[in-house]
Amino acid sequence: MSLTPIGGRSASELRRNELRQNELCQKITTASLREQKLRHEPITCLTAYDYATARLVDEAGIEMVLVGDSLAQTMLGYENTLSVTVDEMLHHVKAVRRGVKHALLLADMPYGSYQVDPNDALRNATRFVKEGGAEVVKIEGGEKRADLIRRIIDAEIPVAGHIGLTPQSVNVMGGYKVQGKNLSGIEQLMRDAVALDRAGVACLYLEGIPREVAAMITAEIATPTIGIGAGPECDGQVLVFHDLLNLTFAPPAKFVRRYGDGAAFIRQAVQSFRADVKAQQYPADEESYHLPRETKAGLETVLDRKRAMRR
Ligand code: KIV
Repeated sequence: MSLTPIGGRSASELRRNELRQNELCQKITTASLREQKLRHEPITCLTAYDYATARLVDEAGIEMVLVGDSLAQTMLGYENTLSVTVDEMLHHVKAVRRGVKHALLLADMPYGSYQVDPNDALRNATRFVKEGGAEVVKIEGGEKRADLIRRIIDAEIPVAGHIGLTPQSVNVMGGYKVQGKNLSGIEQLMRDAVALDRAGVACLYLEGIPREVAAMITAEIATPTIGIGAGPECDGQVLVFHDLLNLTFAPPAKFVRRYGDGAAFIRQAVQSFRADVKAQQYPADEESYHLPRETKAGLETVLDRKRAMRR
């Protein structure tokens, strides 16, 4: 069948664009994520920490935007995620909130904000919703967090779980190590996943575990699983935005695929600006503001008079 071009575009192209627009206009919710899992439609998630990135990620149709505590490293230059505070996180969550319209907005609860006291945990979770505009808060840890997660959900706050390689446990794990590599580790991960599924988490992040284990968990539970270093059988995939674009100043982990070289792009742009300024090539006349003709003529007259008086 031949397609009739309309205004230079084929009808099927216009239809595709229309469908894509509808997709982008749909608000993603915790319920729509579950539907995506049932439809076997892969879920996409990226981290974002500021307004501009959040807008770009949201407008590209990514379904979940996570303000991860990885911002401790990517944005603030800390060695690990342990020192970032609730106030620092909230500063970024608020900026991202202003840039996200369609995606589901999740915020990480940082280390120390939920481990010490359940009442504090509830207060902190509430701040992420009330002050930050987050729709879901994320908490690291498996079955030992199930009761706390139930309490937070009881307070009308959806919770995302996060098991496997949990960066806030770096000192206990003795480094960033793949988890669930032996039978007892696998059993523990299955218990963690089932406990959080029963507690009613909105989604479950699986980080740094063998793909076979992630596949078993994904098949076993109704909750959508979002993998990072957990293989392709998860219901969705997340990457840290700075990993995706080579902005981390460190060798990438095995699971990272770089989709662009942001560091090279920024270096090139900054060096070009520097070179242009040094060579007096920037700004050009077209990049400068000018006086209106009459003002310029008046100014010349005043300056001429001053020069004549000085002689
Ligand atoms: O902090 C973060 O960015 C995360 C993702 C890697 C899942 O927790």
